[in-house]
This record gives sequence, structure tokens and C-alpha cells, in this order.
Amino acid sequence: MKVLVVEDEPRVRASLVELIRELGHEASAVGTVADARDALGAPAPDVCITDLGLPDGDGLDVVRAAKAARPDCAVLVLTGKGSIVAAVDAMKAGAHDFLLKPLKPTLLASALARLSEHQASHPATHAEPAAAGRIGEMVGRSPVMQEVFRLIARVAGSEAPVMITGESGTGKEVAARTVHALSRRERGPFVAVNCGAISPNLVESELFGHEKGSFTGAERRRAGTFEMAHGGTLFLDEVTEMPPDLQVKFLRVLDTRTFRRVGGNEEMDVDVRLVASSNRDLAEAMKNGSFRPDLFYRLNVFPLRMPSLRERKADIPALASHFLSQVEEKERRGLTSFEEGALKVFDRHDWPGNVRELKNAVHRAYVLSDPPAIQAGAAEAVLDASHPAVSPPAVNAKEESWPEVPVRVGEKLEAVERKLLIATLQAVNGDRRTAAEILGISLKTVYNRLKQYGLDDQTLPDHPALPGGRARGS
Ligand SMILES: Nc1ncnc2c1ncn2[C@@H]1O[C@H](COP(=O)(O)OP(=O)(O)OP(=O)(O)O)[C@@H](O)[C@H]1O
Ligand SMILES: [Mg+2]
Repeated sequence: MKVLVVEDEPRVRASLVELIRELGHEASAVGTVADARDALGAPAPDVCITDLGLPDGDGLDVVRAAKAARPDCAVLVLTGKGSIVAAVDAMKAGAHDFLLKPLKPTLLASALARLSEHQASHPATHAEPAAAGRIGEMVGRSPVMQEVFRLIARVAGSEAPVMITGESGTGKEVAARTVHALSRRERGPFVAVNCGAISPNLVESELFGHEKGSFTGAERRRAGTFEMAHGGTLFLDEVTEMPPDLQVKFLRVLDTRTFRRVGGNEEMDVDVRLVASSNRDLAEAMKNGSFRPDLFYRLNVFPLRMPSLRERKADIPALASHFLSQVEEKERRGLTSFEEGALKVFDRHDWPGNVRELKNAVHRAYVLSDPPAIQAGAAEAVLDASHPAVSPPAVNAKEESWPEVPVRVGEKLEAVERKLLIATLQAVNGDRRTAAEILGISLKTVYNRLKQYGLDDQTLPDHPALPGGRARGS
């Protein structure tokens, strides 16, 4: 690749050029914004590495000039530990990533390797993936979703952190996976962490890993989440649920891009792309002090709002067909379409549980229908009976219509608890937070119980009997 270095400090400039050539790329270098503009002229480089403080101006000007000269030019910004905020601003201006000074050769090497690998496999194709009403595994034809797809396609190519917000079931996780799948890290791991479900006393070892013998029970060395996500994408699900002290630790890792294993001395480099999600009002979470504004600022470089399903009812037929073919693929009962009346029933519904609720409704209606099409009556039944209209925050809604859970003497308490938990999750379309509120337990307890009952995210399928299932890891 052709790499342009923009750095006013002669020694740093020379060593960068040398390093880049050693890595097998072409390198040229300039020391001012004015010279950078000239060098970006013809022909523009594949990669531009720029310092932020330059004698005749701001590195942000270089970022903009590079993107103007060549939209697919990857701009890497050099920054000191004290100026992360400026680096985040540079990413907002279109920079691909930032590199911390003093520069670690290994981090530069992996950044360049990924860029060139991607360039080799995607030679300047600017396919419009949204055109067909699909992007990755996501389906949607409504104008709002086309816009979401356009944003996903655009942000996927950068290393910028993405903050995905939206109500429960709107597709935040599937959007995060799509960002990963379309990124230059596609071959790297995608690791999801549910920030509300990490147990407080194991937090550090879960995230950072531990050395053998670092505490009682640490019999083997264990890689933490950061290490597992190295070279890939780390998805911080429900990020506003992260315990406050962990937010501080996270911030430090994001700023230094290094961490230590519990009981370890070695500083490890972190090479992950961050995608976070929340179904809370972020402004509110910051106002009431549960979410740190400085962490928000770093994660919210590229905000992505997933619209609720009732804002995009035009998507219902395409989504319903998509889910129907998924079920048919497995069950093969010969149900391949919807009666017009069934789609009308779906169109009238408000979908408080959003796409997840639709997916579960299609699955239930499948079970109740006879081939060849999903009947209106079946659609009606699955929405009325087991799906009381629960609108977020949901707990206030029609409690009298929630189903009863049969219990008899002789049953184990655990079995009763299990039934009640599953039924509650069903009633709220798998929204774990609402279920926790209804049951009067913490979100963490919900996750712990699911795990304990073998219904955790690994095994909980999106199935009528077990709503809200989500596949984890990859
Ligand atoms: N646009 C879409 N196309 C196809 N499937 C979708 C789409 N959006 C969501 N889904 C499916 O709906 C289900 C719920 O989506 P997902 O888990 O991503 O929602 P979420 O916003 O993360 O929900 P929660 O806030 O409850 O965690 C998943 O099975 C997902 O695959
Ligand atoms: Mg989710």
C-alpha cells in the first residue's frame, strides 16, 4: 500500500517511514498541513497517518483533505495519551482509527495488515447492499431502515466506536454483528459481553483474564474478554448497566489501549473495535449518574438509532416472510406464505416487543396454521392470547391479561421459579429488564437464573416456548 506520513517531528517522521517500509509498504512523508494537501493531490495514498498538532494547522484538516481527495483513504491519527478527546473528534471527522504515541510497532503492523488484507479482498467495490432491502442478515425496506443500512455500510469500514440505541427487540445485536461482518475485522472474532450480567466479583478476571494462581480458584491461566476479542469486535451489550467502578476501568483501557491480566505484570495491547448498545435513554442515564459522560463520549463516536417496529410497519411483510422461511427451513410443514388477512392483523398490532416479538409471533402462528399459508385466525390468536400489549416501560400494562402459571404441591421451588421466569419472559417478549422489574429481582439475577436453568444465551433459541433467545459468541 501507499502510505503518507504527516508529522512535524523529524525523528518520529523518519522512524515511522522506516517502520512502514520494513512492513513492506511504500512510504512518503511531509511535515505540514500545506504539504500534506499537495501530497494528497495526485495520486492519493491508500493510507494517511497524521499527527494532530502540526505547525501550520490542525491534523483534522488533514483528515478532511484526505477523505475529500479519496473517500476510501484510511486515515490514522497519531495522538498522545493526554489527547484522546482530540482523537475521538478526529474519528468523528472521518479518521479510521487512532494510534497512541509512543507508537508501538506491533499495533501499527496489525493496523496496516488489516487495511491491506481488506483492500486485497475488497478492491474498491462500493456495493450498495441496502438496495435489495437486505444487509448481512438484516431485512428492511422502509425508508428509515434503508437509512440505517446506509449508515451501517458506511461506519463498518471505519474503526470508529458505534453506539446503537433502540427499544428492546429492534435488532441492536444483529446490527452490531452486521457492522462487524462488513468491517475490515470480519475474519476476526465477534465477542459480546452483557454488561448488566457480569458478576461484580468476577468482573476483572472476566474482562482482563487472570494468571494461574492469582486468586483462590484460579487454577489455570484464563484469557479475558479483551484478549478473546483481540483483532475483532467487542460488543458491549447493555452498556449503561455496567457497574460504575468497571466504567472507570474500561475508560482506562480505552485510553491506553493496554491492560493487565489479574495477577499479571505484563501490559497487553488491546486491538479491538468497540460497538456498544443500550435500550435506555442515554441522556437520562448520564443525568442520574449511572453512566459516565466521559465513557459515553468515547463510545458515541458514531451513534446509530434502531427505529421501533411501529415506526416502520412497511417492514412487516418482508420481516414476516424472512422469519417464516427460517421456520419452514427447519420444520418443513409446507407453510410458505401469509394469507392477506394475517398480514393485516400484524399491521394493526403495535409491536411493543418490536422485531423479536414479530419473529416469535410468526413462529407461533406457524404452529397454529395449516399449509400452505399462515391464517389470519392464527395471527390473531398469537397476538391476543399470550401477548398482552405491553408498552415500554411495560410493567404498568394489562396485568390482568397475563397468563397464569399452574403450580401444585409436590413441585420443587426451583421448578416453580423456572416456570414463572419463562412465563414472565414470554409475556414481555423476552425483554429481560422488564421481566426483572415484574419479578422484583435484578437484571443480573434473571441472567443468572437463565444460566442456572441451562437457558442462558448460548442455548436459548428464538422459539415460541422460549422467547427472546439470542445466540452468543461466534
Ligand atoms: N432487521 C432485521 N432483520 C432480520 N432479523 C432481525 C432484524 N432485526 C431484528 N432481527 C431479529 O430479531 C431478534 C431480536 O433482535 P436483537 O437481539 O438484535 O434485538 P436487540 O435490540 O438486541 O434486543 P434487546 O434490547 O432485547 O437485547 C433476533 O432474532 C434478530 O435476529
Ligand atoms: Mg440485545
